Amino acid sequence: MKPANLAPFLVAPLLVLLALPLAAADIAAPPAPEPGSVSEAEGLDAWARIEAVVSHPRCANCHTGPDNLPMWSIVGEDKTRPHGMNIHAGESRIGAETLACQTCHVTSTAPNDVAHAPPHAGIEWQLAPVEMQWFDKTGPEICAQLKDPERNGGRDGDGLVEHLIHDAEKDGFVPWGFAPGGGREKAPGTFDEHVRDVQLWVAAGQPCPQ
Ligand code: HEC
Ligand code: HEC
Repeated sequence: MKPANLAPFLVAPLLVLLALPLAAADIAAPPAPEPGSVSEAEGLDAWARIEAVVSHPRCANCHTGPDNLPMWSIVGEDKTRPHGMNIHAGESRIGAETLACQTCHVTSTAPNDVAHAPPHAGIEWQLAPVEMQWFDKTGPEICAQLKDPERNGGRDGDGLVEHLIHDAEKDGFVPWGFAPGGGREKAPGTFDEHVRDVQLWVAAGQPCPQ
């Protein structure tokens, strides 16, 4: 056997060893592209992929408007509708006024795969603040508000990326959207691809379609 033929047998175990510590470590964003190194056209392409995520029911059904109603797009139904059982999040956005979301959506990082069971996450289940409404909004509207610190929780571009990482570290809502379990359709792409797209969009100066 020529020595070169041994290479795959030597390299494969090495890769496994290298991958182990990464998997166990805290979640980290890949290094951000240099500002100015991403063209506006590339930024708009990244936005198109971001838009497909943020307007997907797994994300938008919690980012709802001033009626304080969570939305449901249930497996086996073909229409999105207000959450069943007359659930109302109230101005607290966590149901404090009536029935707390956590009564059913317990805070847990355990696997979440039972069909039609209330999904859960590692943080307290609740609607996003009303100024972060995505449901029923157009892509350009969501784009404009997502880069507006008055309406995105006071975040600059890097702050948006940090939010995604921070949420994922706690097993929060964003990773849930990419792996919702229970036969639900996941948000398009992967968590890592979404982080990368937000970084590209930010480095391009957060361009929005007209
Ligand atoms: C009485 C129990 C109960 C309460 C209280 C409750 N939910 Fe739910 N929720 C469910 C169940 C059950 C499902 C899963 C339905 C299914 O998949 O068939 C669900 C699913 C959801 C979904 C996923 C919908 C989708 O299409 O991905 C969201 C979002 C949601 N609830 C938000 C909330 C919010 C916000 C609150 C508090 C204001 C809340 N829920 C309170 C039982 C509850
Ligand atoms: C269970 C409800 C819920 C789901 C599902 C959810 N979010 Fe959120 N989201 C929130 C809450 C609550 C906040 C406010 C957190 C904060 O500002 O610290 C938020 C804030 C955000 C923000 C901050 C900036 C802004 O303008 O909204 C981003 C970005 C975000 N979510 C992305 C996502 C993405 C991407 C998905 C789907 C993959 C998703 N969220 C699904 C509840 C949810």
